[in-house]
Amino acid sequence: MKRNFVDLWDISPDEGWNIIRWAYDIKKGLDGEKYLKGKTLALYFTKPSTRTRVSFEVAINQLGGSSIFLQEESLQVARGEDLKDTSRTLSRYLDGIIIRTDSHKKLQEFAQYSSIPVINALTDLSHPCQILSDIFTLYEVFGEDIRNIKIAYVGDGNNVCNTWLVGAGLFGLKLFVATPEGYEPSSLYYQAGEDLCKITGGSLYLTTNPIEAVKDAHVVYTDVWVSMNQKRNEDKIQSLMPYQVNKKLLSHALGDVKVMHCLPANKGEEITEEVFEAYADFIFTQAENRLHAQKALLKFLFTQQ
Ligand code: CP
Ligand code: NVA
Repeated sequence: MKRNFVDLWDISPDEGWNIIRWAYDIKKGLDGEKYLKGKTLALYFTKPSTRTRVSFEVAINQLGGSSIFLQEESLQVARGEDLKDTSRTLSRYLDGIIIRTDSHKKLQEFAQYSSIPVINALTDLSHPCQILSDIFTLYEVFGEDIRNIKIAYVGDGNNVCNTWLVGAGLFGLKLFVATPEGYEPSSLYYQAGEDLCKITGGSLYLTTNPIEAVKDAHVVYTDVWVSMNQKRNEDKIQSLMPYQVNKKLLSHALGDVKVMHCLPANKGEEITEEVFEAYADFIFTQAENRLHAQKALLKFLFTQQ
């Protein structure tokens, strides 16, 4: 049966843990199987990407498959061909497709008509590959103790924040989210995270107070205040200023706190240059791990019966 990876709830907690452990082995060089031998996957993107595009292309290559990059403007869909017809056509050529788009609804429609696995490479609502990989990054540091640490997300309640709520639910983690009023994460993703927490023992706590979220945190995570395809809004930037990850805010966290950023960063807004550089090594390990986690995800999607 083909499996999609449109949101993190498309996999079970057990499947999620398997992917994380597989990523660990793959990174260590203990699993060099060519899971995509003879397979062709496409990346269909409507937005820019550095990490997601390159890490997926390299992952597919290292797994023995080949990849085709499709910028939406170069497809007939840009001239009005139905998305469902594009989906049904591409399903006849490809073995899998990785899509980055501005509209989660469009991705869902594509997935509905596709007979091959569809992977979400970021939409306006979610970024499951990112959070899966970030949880792998934390697993590398904290091991099974990952369930006992305090993780704080501070900033805009965007696609990355939404997905963290589901990720914490899926893996049974303790997540504190601090966003300003009016910029909270989606209630649908929050509810999905809460429902998963009931099964896994995770916990979600939403607040408007960044200090409360960061207090004694083991991990502080942030993302840009203006996401791709969003208009810059100075009122929003002002509301977010108290959520900037700077030295003062971090002084409330544990001394050996890990700072994470999915990148790209807009230094001087959500994070200061000083904090970014102090934690750069970890942030780039986080970026590197996209490759290993996605190889494990591809192993999962393409070795399913
Ligand atoms: N974090 C992330 O998805 O980066 P890109 O936009 O460069 O793919
Ligand atoms: N929230 C950001 C994440 C980029 C990886 C965006 O959507 O632009």
